[in-house]
Amino acid sequence: KKKIAIAIDGPAAAGKSTVAKKVANKLHYIYIDTGAMYRAVTFQALEKEVDLTDEKALFHLIKNSSVTLEQTEFGQKVYVDQRDVTEEIRKAAVTNQVSIVAQHALVREEMVKRQQELAAERGVVMDGRDIGTHVIPDAEVKIFLLASVDERAERRYQENRSKGYNSDLDQLKLEIAKRDKLDSEREVSPLIKADDAIAIDTTAMSINEVTQAILTIVKQKK
Ligand code: C5P
Repeated sequence: KKKIAIAIDGPAAAGKSTVAKKVANKLHYIYIDTGAMYRAVTFQALEKEVDLTDEKALFHLIKNSSVTLEQTEFGQKVYVDQRDVTEEIRKAAVTNQVSIVAQHALVREEMVKRQQELAAERGVVMDGRDIGTHVIPDAEVKIFLLASVDERAERRYQENRSKGYNSDLDQLKLEIAKRDKLDSEREVSPLIKADDAIAIDTTAMSINEVTQAILTIVKQKK
C-alpha cells in the first residue's frame, strides 16, 4: 500500500499527540512530535540562560546542538545532545515560554527544514501548528483538531492528576488560552487551519472516536 503523510495541527492540549501516536501505531507509521523539538530548544535556552527574544542567539544554539526523537515501546523519548530531556520539556517553565521561542523566523526555518527531512520518506504522522500549512503542504491527509478551552484544560488537569500532581484548573485555562493567542497571532507561520484540512471538534469525543475518525479519512485517501 502507498505510504502517505498525515498532518495533524491544532491548538494546545487538543489531544494531538495522543491521537497522532495511536494513528501512527495502527498504520505502522512513524510519529513525529514537532512541539517536542521547539520544547527541546526552549529547555536548552533556559538552561544556558539565553535571552528568549534574541533570535540570533537561539539560532546559534540550535545550530550547535542536536535534538533527537526516539520511539520506544514506552513512548517517545527526546534527547538534546544525547541527554534525555523527555520529562524536563513538559514542565511549566518550558510550556509557558516555548511560544516565545517558536515565534522567531530563524528558529522556525531550521526546525521546518529538519521536520521536512524526517517526512521526506512519507509513512509519517506529524503533529504541530504549521504542519499542513508549511511543513508538509502536500500532505495527503490534513487534520485540524479543536476543542473548547474548558475541555482542554480539564483534560490536561486529569492527565496531570494521573501523573500524580495537582494543578489549578483556572490557571491551566489561562495558560492554554495565552499559548493559543501567541501561536495564532505570531507573524511567521501562525497556528491556522489549512484550507484543505478537515476540522474535527473533539470536545465531546473520546480518544478512540477521534482516532477512528482520522483512520476513516485516511482509508479514503489511500
Ligand atoms: O505541541 P506542543 O504543545 O508540545 O507545542 C509546544 C509549542 O511549540 C507550541 O505552543 C508552539 O508555540 C510551538 N510549536 C510550533 N509549531 C509546531 C509545533 C509546536 O510553533 N509545529
